[in-house]
Amino acid sequence: MTFDERYASWAPRSRALYHQASEIIPGGAGSSARTAKFGWMPYPPFMAHGAGSRITDADGHEYIDYLLGLGPMILGHRHPVVTAAVADAIAAYGTCLGLPYELEIEAAMKVVDAVPSVDMVRFTNSGSEAVGSAVRLARAHTERRLVVRFEGHYHGWQDTVYWSNHVDPAQAGPPSRPRPVPAGPGVPAELADTLIVLSWNDPESFAKVMAERGDEVAAVITEPAVFNTGCILPEPGYLELLRELTREHGALLIFDEVITGFRFARGGAQEYFGVTPDLTTLAKGLGGGFPVAAIGGRRDVMSMIADGRYSPPRIRSRTGGTPRSTHVKTCSPAGGRRCCCGACFSIRASTRICSCRWYTAMPM
Ligand SMILES: Cc1ncc(COP(=O)(O)O)c(C=O)c1O
Repeated sequence: MTFDERYASWAPRSRALYHQASEIIPGGAGSSARTAKFGWMPYPPFMAHGAGSRITDADGHEYIDYLLGLGPMILGHRHPVVTAAVADAIAAYGTCLGLPYELEIEAAMKVVDAVPSVDMVRFTNSGSEAVGSAVRLARAHTERRLVVRFEGHYHGWQDTVYWSNHVDPAQAGPPSRPRPVPAGPGVPAELADTLIVLSWNDPESFAKVMAERGDEVAAVITEPAVFNTGCILPEPGYLELLRELTREHGALLIFDEVITGFRFARGGAQEYFGVTPDLTTLAKGLGGGFPVAAIGGRRDVMSMIADGRYSPPRIRSRTGGTPRSTHVKTCSPAGGRRCCCGACFSIRASTRICSCRWYTAMPM
């Protein structure tokens, strides 16, 4: 009997669910990391529920959960205190108010209090969004476009950083100066010009690039300890070198602490290693299984988010993510109707609405 045959008779319910799911969900799973292509051969076991350190599949097999939701479940599954607090908050406040609310301050204070380099914080829904924001913010702040990143690191799936994760050695180029390789065919090849890819833990290649092009670099983004290609710690002095040379050249240092945040130490890898970046991205451990992520960092850089120098103010987040609706809520007529979309700021004397598609008619 082959493995696949034994597995099929051991997990028949998962097999049925997999076939059903595959009809309407690509790969039969909500993340590529859960698909057969990524190793769950011949199909992943479908989970029924989790409790504490255990998860149970649809065929009734119980497992000790070393997967931990791919990282976030540091308190285990369905911790009764967490579950009760979340259920109470939804019952008491709702889920999406579209305007600021007090609990947001409390949550932000906890992040600021825990993470050494974070003066201000903006919540997002996913780590990818947080990284996308950090990269854009760094570009806006420095008025430069070049980003240095490292081979083997993963920073989410946004086009700007979805490069050079697990590269085919035939395409990778030399270790002293790897070639940027898009992680998928949908990533625009033109973006290669905006990236320098380096081997991590190699001080010479980093120092050389900064000496040559440091004044063009908007940001250096790194996992402060690498967990997307094995588990690799920084060599002594390496993070310090990244800090020193980015500062010297006016580039921002971004620590992607999506994995290390709240896990290496309460204040993440930056607390553990004693090196503070300009911007930090957080996700997994922050939400403990809920879709919460954040970008945090230096006050002067983070302030750009509020004053519109980072992106048109109408591009905002909702519960911390997708476009928010605050732009239509606070129009105040000043000698006419005022559009407060944040993008046009137009004041109209007549009753005609402004051409902005976000406008909502407000009483005069
Ligand atoms: C270091 C790092 N950055 C960013 C991301 C993207 O986070 P998300 O999956 O929440 O978009 C991940 C995801 O595993 C990650 O490991």
